Amino acid sequence: MPAKPRRCAVRMTAVCALTMVAAATRSLPAQPTALPTAPAAKTFSAPAWAFPTAPPSTAPVPAPDSVTPHRVPNSARRYTWADVANRFNAPDWFPAQHPPMPSRVLYGIRPEGRACGYCHLPDGQGRPENATLAGLPAEYILRQMRAFRDGTRLSANPVSSTNSMHTAARGTPDDSLLVEAARYFSRLTPRRRNVVREVRHVPTTRIAGLLYAYDGHGTEPIDGRLIEVPESIERHELHDPWVRYTTYVPVGSLARGRRLATQGPAGVATACATCHGPDLLGVGEIPAIAGRAPTYVLRQLINFRTRARRDSTAAPMYAVVDTLTIDDMVALAAHIGSLPPTRSPRRASR
Ligand code: HEC
Ligand code: HEC
Repeated sequence: MPAKPRRCAVRMTAVCALTMVAAATRSLPAQPTALPTAPAAKTFSAPAWAFPTAPPSTAPVPAPDSVTPHRVPNSARRYTWADVANRFNAPDWFPAQHPPMPSRVLYGIRPEGRACGYCHLPDGQGRPENATLAGLPAEYILRQMRAFRDGTRLSANPVSSTNSMHTAARGTPDDSLLVEAARYFSRLTPRRRNVVREVRHVPTTRIAGLLYAYDGHGTEPIDGRLIEVPESIERHELHDPWVRYTTYVPVGSLARGRRLATQGPAGVATACATCHGPDLLGVGEIPAIAGRAPTYVLRQLINFRTRARRDSTAAPMYAVVDTLTIDDMVALAAHIGSLPPTRSPRRASR
């Protein structure tokens, strides 16, 4: 019987959070287990706009073109859409920009364990609809993989309680392959690829996968939303790791987010830096959050708030998110996404 993680009764502090994380890590189940009980969140419904999901279509999906080669700026490589659609051989536009990928990251394991590099990209920058893995602690990556696998980390997406990570995690029952993948991603350096813009009106968009793309029709009120859009949907779909994203948020979000992050949400005298470290670049096994895709950060705040994330080390985040409104979450995601993701950002730029 594994030891129960310590509970921090009065006030959550970094030391307390780290103790809980360490205790939970020691008691990690290697194999799927039943869901742990989690305290119920107060009423909160995840807004549908935070999880754009195209309705299922009955139209036949045409096979991707396997003839015409495509390119992205500054790469000598050429891939057809059929190459890019191969989930068991991650497109790698810039092989000189990262160490050689372990087989699990480049090829995955058939039939279900798709290549990590296919979604999270070979250099670990990820995409807003999945996650940046570059530079995260290997122990944290491994723990999250197990949480996806045993079902204690779900998604608050109102139209789907599951996501592609569950399939990828369940497709890899062998932990040693996950350890190798986790170590690979932890050694890479994250880059910030988004620009945050405060607006009253946002360009109109269409749903493209789990993300938005410009539709060129004009503008509409931002109406409290956070809308992240790639500068080129084609480069995004081609898995170009250097494509940039613009994150539109309501006017005033950045200052509000900075205030919430430094003072802590109302009623919780705990600034984010208490646990996520100076400049929010992570401490021990508590992950860095600075400079990550605002879409990802927002979805995780919602996931903690709805308890879709109830893995063994999620509890320290509950007191933080339970007092937040969706406007606060948008503001925090914008502020955090606009911070440098490394101590010396110049090192990470081309
Ligand atoms: C088919 C796409 C896909 C593949 C393949 C995939 N992932 Fe993911 N991954 C996702 C998505 C989507 C999320 C975001 C889930 C969410 O927001 O709840 C994610 C999130 C994660 C996270 C959480 C990051 C964090 O900061 O908490 C980790 C860790 C991770 N993936 C590791 C991996 C590893 C390692 C592999 C290969 C063994 C892999 N993934 C393969 C789509 C994928
Ligand atoms: C008491 C400690 C504590 C405080 C304060 C705290 N966090 Fe966290 N946070 C954690 C821990 C621990 C995790 C990892 C949870 C897990 O393992 O599932 C985490 C995870 C996260 C994640 C998910 C990261 C990922 O890679 O998926 C986000 C986003 C986040 N925190 C945002 C914030 C913000 C914003 C604040 C301030 C408003 C904050 N946190 C304050 C302890 C804390």
